[in-house]
This record gives sequence, C-alpha cells and structure tokens, in this order.
Amino acid sequence: MPLVDPAGFLNYFNSMEKLEIIKVPNSLLRTKSNPIERVDDDLREFIDAMFQTMYDAPGVGLAAIQVAEPIRLFIADISTEEEPDKPYAFINPEIVHRSEEMRTHEEGCLSLPEVFVELERPNSCVVRYIDREGKQQEETFEGMMSTVIQHELDHLNGTLFVDHLSRLKRDRIIKKYLKDRKNENADPI
Ligand code: NI
Repeated sequence: MPLVDPAGFLNYFNSMEKLEIIKVPNSLLRTKSNPIERVDDDLREFIDAMFQTMYDAPGVGLAAIQVAEPIRLFIADISTEEEPDKPYAFINPEIVHRSEEMRTHEEGCLSLPEVFVELERPNSCVVRYIDREGKQQEETFEGMMSTVIQHELDHLNGTLFVDHLSRLKRDRIIKKYLKDRKNENADPI
C-alpha cells in the first residue's frame, strides 16, 4: 500500500538508509549477476546507497550482489588521506586485458569478515564499463585498484576470493569462519 508523503520526507529518509551486506553462507553470493539494461536515477540512487554502505562498513569495494541485488555493478574507492583517488561505479564491467606482471595483496571481503588471504592477481587490467552517467568507458587500472576490480568482478560471477585457494585450504577457512561466527552469535549463558 502506498504511503502518502507530500513533503517527500520518506524518500529522503529511504535514500539515506543503509543497505544490508549479506555474508557467507548466503547462497546469493554464488549467483551470476545479470547485465544492467538502463542507467537511470533509480540506479544512481542505489549506487549512492551502496557507497554509503561501503564507507560505513568500512570497505574499499562493494558489489551489488553483496547487498542482495544480482545486477552487474560494483563500486570502488581506494582513497586514503595521503593518496586521494575518486569513487568509481562500474556498470556491466568487463576486463579486456590483464597484465602478465602479478601483484600480491592480502585480501579481505565484507561478505567474509575477518578473513584475510594473500592472493596474487595481475598487476594491471584494462576495464570496459559504463559509468554512473551512462557513458561507455575503457580505462587501465594498476596496483591496488587492479586488485579491487578483479576481486569485485569475481563477485558478479558468483566467485569469492577464497575460491582462488586450493579447495582444501578454502574449505578449512570457511569451516573455521562459520564456527567462529556461530560462537559469536551464541546466546550468553
Ligand atoms: Ni568481496
């Protein structure tokens, strides 16, 4: 049932609402996300809510599927006080080239809190994507940004960073994570 809201307060309030980040073992994280057909104000509003959610977490990257929307979109902002960068939104992103040179980074994920794993990925990549304004872009990213982009793009295909480990290692990490989480959520006696 629609609510009567002549002053527009509800819309304002809703747009300020933080989104909920889903976590392992939520099976949605294994979904392959669908291409986005239109970049409009609704999508931009959703992107803004994603940024708010990511900054609040805090995190440097967030894929739409992590807030339960199976659409091909992720955001990234690796800015620090010392090294300012800009916030990016990647719509229907595609990596068209990866460097042979690799880079190692200790990765974490907002959907698998407190798990950190050192992974090796190409040091630079060329990404074709649509930006927040709906413009087609092709850009080369290096270093930390290259790592974040590859991690987030994996999410759109239902892949988690721990999937890059051996199955044995991955299963051990997930098992420990679930056990720790169960202990945390247990009612105090
Ligand atoms: Ni992640």
